[in-house]
Amino acid sequence: MLRVVVMVSGGGTNLQAILDAMKDGKITNAEISGVISNKKDAYALTRAEGAGIPAVCVSPKDYAQREDFNEALLAAVDSFAPDLVVLAGFLVILPELLVKNYKNRMINIHPALLPSFGGKGYYGLRVHEEVLARGCKVTGATVHFVDEGCDSGPILLQKAVEVKHSDTPEVLQRRVMEEAEWQILPRAIDLISNGKVVFEDGRVFAKDM
Ligand code: GAR
Repeated sequence: MLRVVVMVSGGGTNLQAILDAMKDGKITNAEISGVISNKKDAYALTRAEGAGIPAVCVSPKDYAQREDFNEALLAAVDSFAPDLVVLAGFLVILPELLVKNYKNRMINIHPALLPSFGGKGYYGLRVHEEVLARGCKVTGATVHFVDEGCDSGPILLQKAVEVKHSDTPEVLQRRVMEEAEWQILPRAIDLISNGKVVFEDGRVFAKDM
């Protein structure tokens, strides 16, 4: 059984998609051992508690020094002894050591088709605002492994979503979540938990694709 830790900052709809997929048997051989938030009021924590999953908050606001927060965050992750760390809308710069210690064992969901609209400053609604400002006709979501860079790790799954002329950032964000994020994030976990992911020359592939 793959032990998964999910890290969140907000509403936790991606966490919910993972919980639902586990309940429906769309993710097998995996369980969520714990949920970690950097925000005390993140609704994702309520979702975790509702599902009977240990949930903790490690907030930078509780630490005078960034290094102390980094240490506490790493300790919180380690305490669940995860096989896989899933960043599901975790909007915090990760401690270097966390990235290093969980290399090839940490994935992130990004609300665009990387490498477009990724990197520093591209998170949440801002991504969709930029996609609309650029007049893109297609956008989507990406699940990638996390490396030392920002949104630069090997891509595991992507799904495209149509952009409509009438879209607002909020409308587009919702469509990207429904049609892409909530599909490919659970799928990625299921691929990993069933040993169907291979690393090859710095790239990553799903065995059945
Ligand atoms: C999601 O859209 C996710 O792709 C995005 O934050 C949102 C979290 O929503 N992540 C990023 O922008 C990371 N760069 P949720 O809390 O409802 O799952």
